[in-house]
Amino acid sequence: MRIAEGTAQLNTGALIPLIGLGTATRNLNDEEIKAAMTTALQVGYRHFDTASYYGTEHALGEALNSAFRSGIVNREDVFVTSKLGNTEHDDPIAAIKNSLKSLQLEYVDLYLIHWPVKMRTRILFSQPKEEDFLPLNIKSTWQGMEQCMETGLTKAIGVSNFSSKKIEDLLSYAKIPPAVDQVEMHPLWQQKKLRECCSKHNIHVSAWSPLGAPNNPWGSNVVIDNPLIQEIAEKHGKTRAQVILRWGVEQGVSVLPKSFNAGRIAENFQIFDWSLTLDDHDKISKLKQGKISTGQKFVNSTTSPYKTVEELWDGEI
Ligand code: A2P
Repeated sequence: MRIAEGTAQLNTGALIPLIGLGTATRNLNDEEIKAAMTTALQVGYRHFDTASYYGTEHALGEALNSAFRSGIVNREDVFVTSKLGNTEHDDPIAAIKNSLKSLQLEYVDLYLIHWPVKMRTRILFSQPKEEDFLPLNIKSTWQGMEQCMETGLTKAIGVSNFSSKKIEDLLSYAKIPPAVDQVEMHPLWQQKKLRECCSKHNIHVSAWSPLGAPNNPWGSNVVIDNPLIQEIAEKHGKTRAQVILRWGVEQGVSVLPKSFNAGRIAENFQIFDWSLTLDDHDKISKLKQGKISTGQKFVNSTTSPYKTVEELWDGEI
């Protein structure tokens, strides 16, 4: 099978578009979110990344269904990812059905365990308390994820924020191997070890916060403001964001930049008719590494399965 340009093939055989719109937001209303998604569809995005915890499934469902009705796209032309929230591990089937209701879809293309963390309280951005954590049993959660796929509610299943060790552990008992691990990845956090592990097991890597989440309290401008990125952008006559995203797709990962601005949504999509040089790659590969989002909030010395961030990432930090 010929792989269409701008896509990668998952271990299920399905194609995943290499650029998708990330949709996590804290402060926009449904109309603003829907408008951004409609812009993205018009610009050509065919991959949307949401999660039950983002609160954007409903707006995405509205945007997609308007696009289906007006004939801009058909359901089979778009790749939709959603995620099992940390409070939803006990019943993935019920969780995915809720997501599908909000999305007004019969299936998603990919359903991920959002974090290797189980909680009793629905918290995404703020700091959980000790009593919010529950004991984690990824094996039983994964069985529920497998049922989601077996019942046709999702075409593929995977994980997010899993280290190489957690991937290896999961593979030791999974009936259906994960198709994707979605993790923080950008030129300053290149995930070389994890990507080797995923490549060995035919697991596709998707990059969240591929720009490093500039101008966000949980992110940093260090990626977009990196002098080497600036130099390469000037050389190619591209923007810094385009260089960063192009680097990601040339690494074979799918990139999920978030933007709710029409101009930047369009800008981020213009990464397919030019390429970086080997010298660009060589220089970027030597950049000093540092993870921006450490997951510190999921760590405590009493109730979390992780006493330190090193434990959360199994040393890959
Ligand atoms: P905005 O919505 O105003 O465009 P990430 O995807 O790494 O998490 O980064 C998301 C942040 O990056 C958003 O706050 C978004 O702001 C900003 N952003 C998205 N695209 C670009 C771009 N092309 N140039 C600069 N900032 C961008």
